[in-house]
Amino acid sequence: MIEVKHLTHIYNPGTPWEIKALEQISFRVVRGECLGIIGESGSGKSTLAQHLAGLLFPRLGSVLIDGANIYNAHGGREMRKRVGFIFQSPADQLFEESVFKEISFGLRQEKNLSSREIEERVRDVCRKLHPPLEDLMDRSPFELSAGERIMLAIASVLISKPEALVFDEPYAGLDPNNRSEILHQIEILHRNKKTLIILSNQSEGLIHLCDRVIFLYQGKIVAKGRLQEFLASGEIDRRVTDLLPPLTRMLIHLREKGIEVNPSLDTPSSVSLEIHRLLQKKGKN
Ligand SMILES: Nc1ncnc2c1ncn2[C@@H]1O[C@H](COP(=O)(O)OP(=O)(O)OP(=O)(O)O)[C@@H](O)[C@H]1O
Ligand SMILES: [Mg+2]
Repeated sequence: MIEVKHLTHIYNPGTPWEIKALEQISFRVVRGECLGIIGESGSGKSTLAQHLAGLLFPRLGSVLIDGANIYNAHGGREMRKRVGFIFQSPADQLFEESVFKEISFGLRQEKNLSSREIEERVRDVCRKLHPPLEDLMDRSPFELSAGERIMLAIASVLISKPEALVFDEPYAGLDPNNRSEILHQIEILHRNKKTLIILSNQSEGLIHLCDRVIFLYQGKIVAKGRLQEFLASGEIDRRVTDLLPPLTRMLIHLREKGIEVNPSLDTPSSVSLEIHRLLQKKGKN
């Protein structure tokens, strides 16, 4: 279980450039759960993601994995290895000359693994990705498309078998096709019971596959919970509504007008069916 307790992060404290990026953030993620963290640009997502991956030191508050501090003096590194991090710009985490070398980097540092074992593990991870990366092994990571680079970043993290994965804005700047591929990949990881934390400013396609969602606004949590329960709860904070997918916003709007629709529907076809049902009902009355 990952637990964030009263986490506050201030950049450049005590200077004229001081910025409170996170304020009193607390939440838990249990093993196998998929948590979505949604917030507009500048709401503190990357700052939070870096704390979850142990890349930023929590000065105020703490990040715990199974009750142990991610950043203690003893075994801190071990703890950090348990969480894999996919950066906001995956190119920042790629540095080897071929896809194979990139994925196998961590394994090659382990003295007790033969090159055959390394190759098998790399192929095994690549086969599980959709689309698989197997045919790209000799290519340079820098020649890959943006979507392929994210897949490569995921493979490079999965190879060391982390218990949890943190995705910071996994599909920023990608076209809709690549975006659905990444979402599909996230769904597969979720089905395979990986603990997932996905931070994004785009909720569409993501919030419906998460078990729980947190909405961040200017460094603070403004809402959290299961989406269905949360949508069923009537009045929704305007700061949250603005972050919901257009389809969900439309359904909430219809509900506010007194039309009995289910705001949890997430595809145009399910919404059309619902509208059709309502029209038929109206016709009968
Ligand atoms: N290294 C830094 N030094 C100073 N201020 C920073 C630094 N990194 C982020 N900030 C500030 O902290 C706040 C939160 O930034 P952060 O990058 O965490 O937001 P974000 O939600 O990830 O935004 P985006 O969606 O644009 O990636 C912003 O006001 C940002 O300007
Ligand atoms: Mg960010």
